[in-house]
Order: sequence, then structure tokens, then C-alpha cells
Amino acid sequence: MPGRSGLRSRLILGFISVALLASVATLVATYVGAAYLFRNDQLQSTSHLVDGVLPRDPTSNQIALIVIGSALALLALMVVLAQLATRRVLRPVRKLAAVARRLAQGDLQIRLTATGADEMTDLVHTFNEMATSLQAKVAELHRMHTMAQRFAGDVSHELRTPLAAMLAVTDVLDEQSERFDGDAAAAARLVSRETSNLNRLVADLIEISRFDAGSAALLMDGVTLADAVASCLRVRGWTQQVVVEPLPELRVRCDPRRLDVIIANLVGNALRHGAPPVTLRAWTHHAAGRDWLSLRVHDCGPGMPAEVLPHVFDRFYKADTARTRSEGSGLGLAIAWENARLHEGTIEAANAPEGGASFTLHLPLYPEPLQAG
Ligand SMILES: Nc1ncnc2c1ncn2[C@@H]1O[C@H](COP(=O)(O)OP(=O)(O)O)[C@@H](O)[C@H]1O
Ligand SMILES: [Mg+2]
Repeated sequence: MPGRSGLRSRLILGFISVALLASVATLVATYVGAAYLFRNDQLQSTSHLVDGVLPRDPTSNQIALIVIGSALALLALMVVLAQLATRRVLRPVRKLAAVARRLAQGDLQIRLTATGADEMTDLVHTFNEMATSLQAKVAELHRMHTMAQRFAGDVSHELRTPLAAMLAVTDVLDEQSERFDGDAAAAARLVSRETSNLNRLVADLIEISRFDAGSAALLMDGVTLADAVASCLRVRGWTQQVVVEPLPELRVRCDPRRLDVIIANLVGNALRHGAPPVTLRAWTHHAAGRDWLSLRVHDCGPGMPAEVLPHVFDRFYKADTARTRSEGSGLGLAIAWENARLHEGTIEAANAPEGGASFTLHLPLYPEPLQAG
């Protein structure tokens, strides 16, 4: 393949040029040096070049200085020449490295244009092919991921109708529970409990699929923090089980339903997975250039093992699968986290120094809009 060795030829040519220039420079330096030191007849024609510039009868120190100076000047000249010779070869390599870096950062559209017909051009073609194949793979994975998400959402929606019928039946079973005894009563209770668990799971799946589809929207409103906490606990019958420390008098701009979901999840977990007393504390602070509301739910349970902590917000994650098998969907914290993220906030999970688990919600405080009229 003619031309395929262009890069090698260029390197060899560059090397030969530098070697030639180095030889010429050495010859000239030697010739001028000899003319200066010996000033003999054969060299008379050039000895006048150094007369007046260098001392006539040099001492050994001066000779040493002149030799070192010439060597350094020659070295500098070589470095400059080598730089010039390698620049042309290195330029496309640098360009390739920059483009590869952008590809690694996620710019999958980026390609290099190949000019010429050397090894570098081969490399550019291979790089472009790799980028195209990577882009196609990522697009395929994205398509499959979207399909899987849509499938989960569609299945959950489809389950709602038969579930509504099953819930109606279990309501009747619950109402007439006294008519059953023995195994029949136990079976009726089991069916009723599992049906309501399934109902919760389907509701959570539908909620998650809305986050995945990007269709979860914030319906912002102003709420008084103390009212939001009080009504969340009252509706669920938790008022007596949670110690609420004096809350800051604050109106919060948020999606009230989503704030309620987050608080209910954290408190519900503290009551179910932790142990009393469960305390709820809130405070405001300034960080990263904005004001924040932090709300901490702490319980006096066993806390979470270190290996569990990084996974508590994962979907379907349950640390104690045996105990909680039929109690929760394992989606509660994932949903709470998505709700916090939607508000540009976050939730931190930790083991409190005094023992027990501690979950802290951080929400940015949006200013209240001006009242119209
Ligand atoms: N306060 C807590 N104390 C100990 N473990 C907890 C606490 N909160 C959450 N966890 C652990 O995190 C897991 C995930 O919680 P979550 O997503 O709410 O699922 P679920 O409550 O349905 O099991 C729980 O199963 C539990 O193992
Ligand atoms: Mg939960």
C-alpha cells in the first residue's frame, strides 16, 4: 500500500534532518574553535571571525567556559530543531487525544476528519468507526431502557383495574370476617393484606414510572412548615408516636403533596425499621449560595450497617428481606429521593453518633412569589 508508511517516512526524514543539522553545527563549531585556538595558516581564512570577539591568549578557565558555552548553545539549537521536526508529527496525535477526551466526556457525535494516507489516517478512520459503533450501542441501550421503563409503567397501569376489583372483594371479606373461622379466616386475612400490599406496590411503581418518563411535575404552593408536618402525622395516626421539636416559623414554597410523601416515608421507616422515640427536627441554613430547609427524622433503632447505607435509596432495596418481605415495596426511599431531587434538594442517610438511623431532607427555600393584585 503506497503512502501507508508516510508517518514513518516523516519520522525518519525528521530524524535525518536533525542529525544532519547537528553534524553541520558540530563541524562549524569545531572549525571555528580550531581557527581560534590554533590560528594556523590553513585556518587563517576563518580565524578573523573570532578575532576581536574572543580573547587572544585565553586562560584554561576561559577555554573551559567557551567550550561549555558552545556545547550549551549547540544543545539549545538541537532542542529547537527537534521541537520543530516533531511538531508536525505530534499535532495530529494531540488532536486525536483531545477528541478522544471529548468522546469520553459523552460527546458521542464527535468525529475527526482524515486527510492524507498515512498510519495516522488509518488511526483516525478506526477511531471514527469506534465512535460510530459506541454511539449506536448507547442509542440501542437507551432505547431498550426506555422500553423497559415504559413496560413497567404500562403493566402497572394495566394492573390497576383488576386490583380495584380485588380490593372491592377484600373489603367485603374484611367486613364479613366474623363469618369465617379457622383456616378460612387466616386465608381471608392473608388475601386482604397481600392485596393491599400489591395495591401499594402498583401505586409506587406508577409513581416511579412517572419520574422515569420525566412526566413528574412540581405543583408549587406555599405551606406553613408546622402545618405540613402536623397534618402528615395526624392523617397517618402518628402524632403520639413522634416527638416534634419546636419547628421554625416558616412558609415553604414546595409541592405540598410531594413534601408530605417525603416526610411520611422517613417517619414511616423510622417507626417500622427503627424504634421509638422518633424525633423530627427542622432548621434553616445558608449553603452553596442559597437558603435551605433541613428536616431530620431520627429514631432509636439499630441503625443501618455500613454496607447497607449506600444502597438505601436504590429501588427495591430492603436490608432485612426476611422481616420486611411483605411490609413495604422497597421503593419508599427511592420515591422520597426523587421527590427531593425534583425540588433540587437531597436526602442524606446516616447513623447518628448517639445511635439509631437519621435521615435528613435538604430542600432549597424558594422565595414566596409576590401576591397578585
Ligand atoms: N430508619 C431506618 N432504620 C433502619 N433501616 C432503615 C430505616 N429506613 C430505611 N431503612 C432500610 O432501608 C430500606 C429501604 O427503605 P424503603 O425504600 O423505604 O423500603 P421499605 O420501607 O418499603 O422496605 C428498608 O427496607 C430498610 O432496610
Ligand atoms: Mg419505606
